[in-house]
Order: sequence, then structure tokens, then C-alpha cells
Amino acid sequence: MAKYKIAWLPGDGIGKDVLDAAQIVLDKAELDAEYIHGDVGWEFWRTEGEPLPQRTVDMMKTTRCAMFGAITSKPKTVADQELIPELHNKGYVYRSPIVRLRQLFDLYICKRPCKAYPGNPLNYKDGVNFVIFRENTEDLYSGLEFNRIPPDMLKIKGMEHVSPDAAISIKVNTPKGCERIIEAAFEFTKSEKRKKVTCVHKANVVRASDGLFLEIFNKVAQRYPTVEADDANVDSLCQWLLKKPFNYDVLVAPNLYGDIISDLCAQMVGGLGFGSSGNIGNNYALFEPTHGSAPKYAGMYKVNPIATILAAKMMLEWLGETDAAQRVESAVEQVIKEGRVRTYDLGGDASTLDMAHAVAEKI
Ligand code: IPM
Ligand code: MG
Repeated sequence: MAKYKIAWLPGDGIGKDVLDAAQIVLDKAELDAEYIHGDVGWEFWRTEGEPLPQRTVDMMKTTRCAMFGAITSKPKTVADQELIPELHNKGYVYRSPIVRLRQLFDLYICKRPCKAYPGNPLNYKDGVNFVIFRENTEDLYSGLEFNRIPPDMLKIKGMEHVSPDAAISIKVNTPKGCERIIEAAFEFTKSEKRKKVTCVHKANVVRASDGLFLEIFNKVAQRYPTVEADDANVDSLCQWLLKKPFNYDVLVAPNLYGDIISDLCAQMVGGLGFGSSGNIGNNYALFEPTHGSAPKYAGMYKVNPIATILAAKMMLEWLGETDAAQRVESAVEQVIKEGRVRTYDLGGDASTLDMAHAVAEKI
């Protein structure tokens, strides 16, 4: 029997292309695992009205962790949803499977390293090396949304000024939710001998929920006297990240700001082809590239698989296979530095699998 069972969830678009690449690398690293395919994505929404079938969730519960490709997030609006009358009329509401998986498995940490590998022609500046800790289960992703204000809610003081036909999305930050992600960021900073954690918020305007996040940050920071603690409004942070990137190290943010700065930071180290994510809870974890499903490239084996290979490397670390993780990262480093095998985003014409084989050869 294999040492690990791993759920393998390609999803939509280029999800399969990039997971095939990760498989080549994991096999070369000789991970002793059984990979179990799970259905997820647009196809299952279209045919079953459920982008995340229960059978997939049940299967995942029998595994140690999961690798995830990408999902085409549609329909985006209620109007789009009405375009599929057979589903809409049955009352199906589309919910993003990845957001649901993060909540279902309580994967409250979204860890997103953004490291500029030397030799990458797309680096904004060499030496950039951030790690984002994004809260992954609450905030504006809590799913508390109403297309019209529920009548009972109109009775709340202050609501009488709001038009009853307003759409509202509720931002939920709980003390427990804030504390556990902030603590994870500090623990990581301390154990990796990094220097500083910056709290990302907009507490000057969003006083209740972001105010709580900042308050808890300041409290937790006191427990880590050797780590420098700093905070910034998310808007000014975007400016400073570009202006003085070396002032930043570990960033901790509520869900939505974490989502937004993730793409900004990924772009600083070569774009979404280099952004990997670990969705991590206390008992389960799911690893994925930060990029989307790029439907126009689906099945063409054209896109850069490095983000997914780095996600696989994070999975190896999480499993405690640190030696294999280091070998994968150093292989990626060498391939980027040599610059002989490059996908189109890096100015080359190598395929997704060429790049995976180039990495595998160095392991
Ligand atoms: C991400 C993505 C997802 C998110 C989408 C696909 C729902 O943008 O992982 O950053 O918003 O979290
Ligand atoms: Mg995103």
C-alpha cells in the first residue's frame, strides 16, 4: 500500500495540463503515493447542477491531502445563472467549488510564497521574496449574500436609509478566524527565521471587521517579541510593495485583500505562472496554482507549470517530505536559471510537459 493517498482534482481548462506536469515531477521525486481522481468543475455544474459533487467530497475525506488544478468560475452574476434555465429553475445556485472546499475542510491558511527565482526574465526585481498568509474561510467570502435585503434585516437601526432593493454582501471576521491566521503567520516567520510580519487591512474605513483584525494582530504580535510587526492600509500597501519591495517579508491579510495582493505579488515574481498556494487546515490541506483555468489554452499544454510544480513542492513540505521538497525547488531553480527550457510566457516555445520534464531531469 502506498504511504499517502492524495486526491487529484484537475478541474477545468488547463487544470489537467498543469496537474499532468506536477505528476511527472512527483513521480521523479519518488513520492510513495496513490492519486485518486475527483470530479469537480464546470462540467459537473452543467450536467449535474453541482460543481463539487458529494462523491468528490466523500472521496477527499479518505485522503491525506489534495492537489487541485483550476476552476472556471461561472456564472458570475445572477443574470448569467439565468442563462441556464434548466438549472436556474430548479433553484440551483452556483458557488465556487474552491471557496467551498476551503470552508468545508476548514483550510483557514492560504499560504502563498512569492519568490523571484534568479534568471527569470519576468522578475520585477531580483531578490523579492514575500510570503502571503491569507485568511481563507471568512471575510467577504463567508457566502452571506443577498440579492435583495431580507425584510427582517430592514428593521435594523440605520438600515432604513438603505434602499430595500440593494444587494448586500456581509463581511464576517471572527476573533477566532483572525487569531488563527495571524498566529500562523507569526509562527512561520519565527520558525523560518524571517524578520517581519505586516498586517494588511483597511481599518481606517472598515472599522468593525478590519478593526478587529488589526486589534488581534497587535495582541498576537506581543507574543512574538523577536518578530518585527507592522501594519498597512491595503491601498497604500499596493503602492509601497512596488516602491520598496524589500521592506516586506511576511504579509497577513483577511480573505479578500489577501486575494488581491496575491496577484500583485505573483506578478512581481514572474506572473501567475509562478504563484502557488497551499490551503492548509489543522487536519487537511489542498495545494493549487494561484492562476485560473485559462480556457483558451485548455488541453494545449502551453501554459507554464511552475506554479503547480511549486504547489506540489509545498505539498511535499506539508507531508514532511522535506528532502524531496528541497530537491524539487532546487530543480526549478536550476531550470529557471539556465533558461534553456521556457514556456511562452517566458519567451520560449517549450510545452507544459517539456518544462515538467526539464525540472524532473534535475531531481
Ligand atoms: C484565488 C482565486 C479564487 C479566490 C477564485 C477562483 C474563487 O482567485 O484562489 O485567488 O478568489 O479565492
Ligand atoms: Mg485570486
